[in-house]
Amino acid sequence: MSHRIVVRAAETGDVDGIYALLRPYAQNQIILQRSKDDLFQHLQEFIVAEYDGILVGTAALHIYGSNIAEIRSLVVKPSHQGKRIGHLLVEGCEKLALQLHVAQVFALTYVDRFFTNMGYDVVAKESLPHKIWTVCVHCKKFADCDEIAVQKRLSDAPIKPMEVMPILNVTVKSQA
Ligand SMILES: CC(C)(COP(=O)(O)OP(=O)(O)OC[C@H]1O[C@@H](n2cnc3c(N)ncnc32)[C@H](O)[C@@H]1OP(=O)(O)O)[C@@H](O)C(=O)NCCC(=O)NCCS
Repeated sequence: MSHRIVVRAAETGDVDGIYALLRPYAQNQIILQRSKDDLFQHLQEFIVAEYDGILVGTAALHIYGSNIAEIRSLVVKPSHQGKRIGHLLVEGCEKLALQLHVAQVFALTYVDRFFTNMGYDVVAKESLPHKIWTVCVHCKKFADCDEIAVQKRLSDAPIKPMEVMPILNVTVKSQA
């Protein structure tokens, strides 16, 4: 029997589901707590995974600068772990990063082996952009952070401008 996994951009109707996915892990301080307001405000950063049409995973890509972004809020529902959905969500974030011309992604994580298996290197936290700590101050473990930083370069080649899909593309008559 085959099953369909779809990774797509999140939409407003997903917020309750994303919140429910993240909450137990946030309570155990594995990921940062996100309120529903915060999820709505950052919804464009989120992707979700559906397994046979059911929301079972999420991840977000937060851009810090022209060349670096963080994969955060990565969670797969316990009942659906081990089905490569985590891999697909990370690949989805990487694809999104490349589409936005961001060549490097990093994560702060306790599952470093999961990321190193996907080509990430363990790096010193101090090598990450200082801006990340503005988010980390909201973490209870800020003063004693035991997460591991992992980073991946997605493209060695200078990123070529890609064709950007217009949101609107109209022809207007000149007034002359
Ligand atoms: C980490 C997580 C997203 C992986 O999702 P998943 O769908 O189960 O992972 P996949 O099926 O794509 O990949 C499975 C692989 O990851 C490895 N893996 C999964 N969880 C792991 C963990 N906690 N520690 C180390 N490796 C882990 C498995 O051993 C397996 O390895 P293999 O490829 O050699 O067989 C999921 O376990 C999860 O939601 N964990 C809790 C939240 C969390 O820690 N998120 C990461 C925040 S950065």
